[in-house]
Amino acid sequence: MIRADFALRHAGQLATMVPAAGDPLGRIRDGALAAREGRVVWIGEDRELESQVTLDGDLLDTQGACVIPGLVDAHTHPVFAGSRADEFAERASGVPYAVQQSEERGIARTVRATREADEPTLLALAQARANRFLANGTTTIEAKTGYGLDLDNEAKLLDVLRKLAGRTPLRVVPTFLGAHVPPPGIDRDLYVRSLIDEMLPAFRPWADFCDAWCEAPAFTAKETRAILTRARSLGYGLRVHAAQLAPGEGPDIAAALEARSADHLEFATPAQIRALAKAGTVAVLCPGANFTTHGPRPPIDAMRQATLPMAIASDLNPGTSNSESLPHAMSLACVQWGMTPVEVLLGATVHAARSLKLDGVAGCLQVGSFADCAILDVETPEAIPYYVGVNRVIATVAGGVTWQPS
Ligand code: NIG
Ligand code: FE
Repeated sequence: MIRADFALRHAGQLATMVPAAGDPLGRIRDGALAAREGRVVWIGEDRELESQVTLDGDLLDTQGACVIPGLVDAHTHPVFAGSRADEFAERASGVPYAVQQSEERGIARTVRATREADEPTLLALAQARANRFLANGTTTIEAKTGYGLDLDNEAKLLDVLRKLAGRTPLRVVPTFLGAHVPPPGIDRDLYVRSLIDEMLPAFRPWADFCDAWCEAPAFTAKETRAILTRARSLGYGLRVHAAQLAPGEGPDIAAALEARSADHLEFATPAQIRALAKAGTVAVLCPGANFTTHGPRPPIDAMRQATLPMAIASDLNPGTSNSESLPHAMSLACVQWGMTPVEVLLGATVHAARSLKLDGVAGCLQVGSFADCAILDVETPEAIPYYVGVNRVIATVAGGVTWQPS
């Protein structure tokens, strides 16, 4: 008998995301799973559970609901203060996002508000966001800094992420995004030097990944290459905000440096997409940001042709996508871009996990994986994006524990 301290029973459909018998979602009907110390120890048909597992712990009867792996959000900016609701409204009446970026407004405005906020305030804001991620079925996030933009303030943001990880069952994968935009009021060459010489070495113990935004109003190709090359030599995994607002070299740099992810990619060319596929990079697509900035459809067909894995992310941030809901991002990717429900489901689980080097442990349910699940009141996993803008998550399990809002 297999010993377990958590079991979940009677999932109408349990999507493992491990392809089986022609089903890309590897679903089990009337499924069950058992976990010990946060990891799955048994998974299969409910009728076999009792003969194979002894349970000493919590039992969750899902009464025919759909169960999928806890969603994985591969691109979020969850540590910030202040609001830019007025900029959202302006864009709705035709002002472009790029035009809103100045020393006073746009990202610089959030940098100012975030620098002014103390650590407990930022932690409380991040914790509320963590609760909203969990409420919407997400159990793992990639979490970027990027609103501090100097040594002390970026350190403050990394500290908030470290404390957040200790206070929430949400898994938090920290990314250093000191190369978000050059901060106002300092010579850009000096800032790039400080990134390369001070911040990148100092923050290596606190961040798994380094990200850079490669295009105006952020960093040039030359600057991005220098920053990410240094990051790679220090052992960071790499991510790149690339070709979001205009064509550029961001995707080429991501491919050349074998970045784990290239994000946004609305303006990537077919040749760049082939190069990313060859480099083993994951495309992290951000439908929420695309939607509120009125961006063009990313080259989804070229990505399919190149078999470039496409992750779907919320891109939670105060400027372009103030949402912790991956199901909503999945709906947008289906409706706006013509992605299929299966593509977006894989995008918010296995492909996202791969971009975070969590393949096989997050975004899937199999023996040895995290016991992270989202339980939803939907008829099939494919119906998740069909429920647009409403939260159909009944319960979220993280590490074999059913999450309760705190
Ligand atoms: O992913 N592209 C850059 N960064 C964010 C927007 C940040 C902001 O506007 O505050 C994004 O869309
Ligand atoms: Fe972003």
